[in-house]
Amino acid sequence: MKFPKSVTIKEVGPRDGLQNEKAVITARDKIDWINKLSKSGLSYIEITSFVNPKWIPALADCYEVATSIEKQPGVTYAALVPNQKGLEKALSANVDEVSVFMSASETHNKKNINKSIEETYPILNNVVSEAINEGKTTRGYVSTVFGCPYEGEVNVEDVMKVSEKLFEMGISELSLGDTIGIATPNQVQVLLEQFLKRFPEDKIALHFHDTRGMAIANIYASLQMGMTTFDSSLGGLGGCPYAPGASGNVATDDVLYMLHGMGIETNINEKKSQRQPLLLKLP
Ligand code: HMG
Ligand code: MG
Repeated sequence: MKFPKSVTIKEVGPRDGLQNEKAVITARDKIDWINKLSKSGLSYIEITSFVNPKWIPALADCYEVATSIEKQPGVTYAALVPNQKGLEKALSANVDEVSVFMSASETHNKKNINKSIEETYPILNNVVSEAINEGKTTRGYVSTVFGCPYEGEVNVEDVMKVSEKLFEMGISELSLGDTIGIATPNQVQVLLEQFLKRFPEDKIALHFHDTRGMAIANIYASLQMGMTTFDSSLGGLGGCPYAPGASGNVATDDVLYMLHGMGIETNINEKKSQRQPLLLKLP
């Protein structure tokens, strides 16, 4: 079996990990955590979201966090942006990468960003083109790729359509989200087979939540298909508040354990990216 020699891990803990947290975590603790992560060898950290704080109160301190971290050379600091208002704030905070997001299923899209899929395209199109004009790289997330908490099964064609639209806007990478953590390895491989006919492997990342303990198996199945970019969250924190039943992201520490054990390089120092004291404060 042929596996990739190296893999890129994108740490989404400070955003996806914290967005659903009920415990109050101060901006100072978030900043200290991101600063520690920045010295672990990670090349990419999603630090926050410039969304409406009424929708995601846990990240209301997005501007303070983004402007107070000590940026390290070689690390990309990304943030989620849903619309023009979020973009303006993200640009003024000088994030490196702007990540837009939408769902492959209509109901989750509506519940998550209060728009239909068709209404979302022009909004994200403007965000992506303006971000690129401002010299930022852009990433696009598609949620509910393997199933929707409201609609159940999601067709590969629907995922493909949203993905194509995002690439047409100019995103440099697409992240395929198993928002509620229901994918199984064979399902992942069937979807990737379709995707790899249409898009290059190095433009696609996988974003697995771990509701049923399938995430590591799904990463293994993706590695078998030659995939080399995965999103994960330290300690397995995370979940979308608008996706009932969703649990945390796959844990960065577990992914590193598997990859390093398999002789696949990540450049990340496992000791420095281990669960850190901040996490002990969580319930
Ligand atoms: P809306 O209510 O439709 O927005 O929300 P609106 O444009 O009608 O404006 C209403 C109010 O919101 C106005 O304020 C705006 O100024 C304000 P008011 O005049 O009433 O005082 N507003 C904003 N404030 C701050 N930042 C902004 C912003 N935009 C408008 N950017 C909106 C639409 C998209 C803003 C809202 O639905 C929202 O914030 N949703 C975010 C939901 C979210 O963050 N979900 C979690 C992330 S997605 C995820 O986790 C999945 C992923 O991990 C992949 C996977 O796992 O599948 C990425
Ligand atoms: Mg997620």
